[in-house]
Amino acid sequence: MFQHFTGFVYLFAVSQLVSLAGAQSECPLQLDPQRVVVRYGGSVAANCSTSVLHKGMGWEASEGVVPVTKDQNLITWRVSELTEWDIKPVCYINLIHSAQCKVDLPVTVYKTPDSVFISTVNHRGPMMEGQQYELQCDVHNVAPVQYLTVKWYKGQTLLHQTTFTDNIKTPENKTVTLLIRPDRADDEAEYWCEAELDLGAEGPQPHPTISAKPLNVEVYYKPKHSNSTETIIQDDKDMLDCTVKVNPAPTYTWDHLKEKISSSVLKSSELSPGRYTCTATNTLGRDSKVFIVKSTGGF
Ligand SMILES: *[C@@H]1O[C@H](CO)[C@@H](O)[C@H](O)[C@H]1NC(C)=O
Ligand SMILES: *[C@@H]1O[C@H](CO)[C@@H](O)[C@H](O)[C@H]1NC(C)=O
Ligand SMILES: *[C@@H]1O[C@H](CO)[C@@H](O)[C@H](O)[C@H]1NC(C)=O
Repeated sequence: MFQHFTGFVYLFAVSQLVSLAGAQSECPLQLDPQRVVVRYGGSVAANCSTSVLHKGMGWEASEGVVPVTKDQNLITWRVSELTEWDIKPVCYINLIHSAQCKVDLPVTVYKTPDSVFISTVNHRGPMMEGQQYELQCDVHNVAPVQYLTVKWYKGQTLLHQTTFTDNIKTPENKTVTLLIRPDRADDEAEYWCEAELDLGAEGPQPHPTISAKPLNVEVYYKPKHSNSTETIIQDDKDMLDCTVKVNPAPTYTWDHLKEKISSSVLKSSELSPGRYTCTATNTLGRDSKVFIVKSTGGF
């Protein structure tokens, strides 16, 4: 029973497809171009032509109507300032030996966004390494969103992209968010987003793209020395260098010294052989480094 039923549905579907394809190839009209893409307020034109004798042909549309024409085989639909988001021009022909047939011209009316803006959601000021933050990209007044891609970048690296499936033809606002977990390498990184309209082969090339002004991210992180121990052979040039790149800037303290020193660098020639520990401290934490100073004599 079920098999009979699906068999019937299949045959029905195939016969529908055959008749649809047949109807299209039977209508002796050629559109040039076969699809148009036009900026809102821009000008647009498309030709409809035939090679058969006919009783009249014309264009139906809410703008740029071409009334039924008998003595021509090429008629042009033309609008000099298209200000309709959902226009559906149709070219038709009244055939001599059969009824009227028609072909639709797909029209995509687009508008680039008025603005693209990036912001941080519920946060101000520096970010902490390893914590999660949300960035937001607002795209204002763009159409049609079906052809919109919002891309996220850090510097020149593409991080993520979003497309939309809404079939709305009028301008929309779109908000896209991105979760980030910055690390120390992201301090001073530039995050930005851009809105790109890829309107297909008939659309403008390169694709219209509007970029947000980049967001400069400041990341706070704990001091960390690349080496925790270093051996120094005492001479005139060799330094004990405790300097560490960190944000916010650290303070430095040294153990095993008679006087208090806040410099991050000491001259080995001014020290006696032994162990010296330096600690870099900022608001997030501290990290120590041990220097073993040996005399040239080799004690
Ligand atoms: C329409 O046809 C005319 C006459 O052949 C031609 O000059 C024009 O470029 C064509 N326009 C388009 C949009 O194809
Ligand atoms: C988009 O945002 C603007 C400004 O906030 C607003 O005036 C407009 O009505 C919004 N458009 C839509 C389609 O929601
Ligand atoms: C850190 O230690 C490694 C291996 O012990 C050494 O190759 C490197 O030069 C040291 N780096 C510094 C800045 O002293």
